[in-house]
Amino acid sequence: MRASASQLFDADAKLGGVIVSVRDITTEKKLEQQIVQSERLAAMGAMIGGVAHELNNPLTSILGVSELLQDSQTTDAARKQIGILQQQARRAAEIVHNLTYFSRPPAPGKTSVNLGEVVERTLNLHSYSLRKNNITVDFLREPGLPYVEGDPHQLMQVFLNLILNAEQAIREARDRGTLRIRLGTTGGSVWAAFQDDGPGIPADTLASIFDPFYTTKRPGRGTGLGLSICKSVMKEHNGTIEAANAPGGGAVFTVTLRAVAASSASA
Ligand SMILES: Nc1ncnc2c1ncn2[C@@H]1O[C@H](COP(=O)(O)OP(=O)(O)OP(=O)(O)O)[C@@H](O)[C@H]1O
Ligand SMILES: [Mg+2]
Repeated sequence: MRASASQLFDADAKLGGVIVSVRDITTEKKLEQQIVQSERLAAMGAMIGGVAHELNNPLTSILGVSELLQDSQTTDAARKQIGILQQQARRAAEIVHNLTYFSRPPAPGKTSVNLGEVVERTLNLHSYSLRKNNITVDFLREPGLPYVEGDPHQLMQVFLNLILNAEQAIREARDRGTLRIRLGTTGGSVWAAFQDDGPGIPADTLASIFDPFYTTKRPGRGTGLGLSICKSVMKEHNGTIEAANAPGGGAVFTVTLRAVAASSASA
């Protein structure tokens, strides 16, 4: 609340009372916080982008030289050690790639996208791992969903991150689980919801999970970039991504995109 008070004078300029006004400023406060948050993220994104760019050249050298070295080595032990070097350098390069992607996601290519098809393709790509981890996928979509406008490759990346997170969350809790995926439409938008039956997200961390580098996973397991990349990509698509805990336990992530003209709904 914001309160202010001023004196009230009567016709003879004598103090007759006080005017007090109290206003609810919840909305202003929330907006203010959002602006601070997005400015902070933008500054961080710019810095991260710069660092990632600088790391790219030395990493390329490490990879190149270690490949040459491996060819010239004769002992198995030496080749094995260089193999480890390469593997770790590749992991570092992948993190750098993710960092660049997060800080400056490429402008999304604009095509009409059938979101259900994109989800299906992502699931196919990842089906081996899901099967191996005893995760059943329960995938349902409303028939005749309208198309959305976007970049199918980038949207696939978003879905893949959500599927990976769900898989990791389930594995943390037990040795089997269900990933429930629903696609639907509400008031001119198409949404896709990914719900797992893992441990869910502690309420006090819900606000941080989209921050870059926020991770609860062991070092080497997660860099905390997955969801920040999802958020950047969705922002570039003028869409949203939200996280919540499902009533029955587990986490649910909902991605929403504006539908394009309903005429393309037939396919
Ligand atoms: N489905 C989920 N269930 C429970 N917690 C989740 C789920 N998805 C994300 N989280 C929480 O949000 C954090 C951030 O997720 P994010 O994908 O950004 O990073 P990460 O998975 O830890 O690492 P990376 O994606 O870079 O490998 C996770 O470490 C985890 O604590
Ligand atoms: Mg992740």
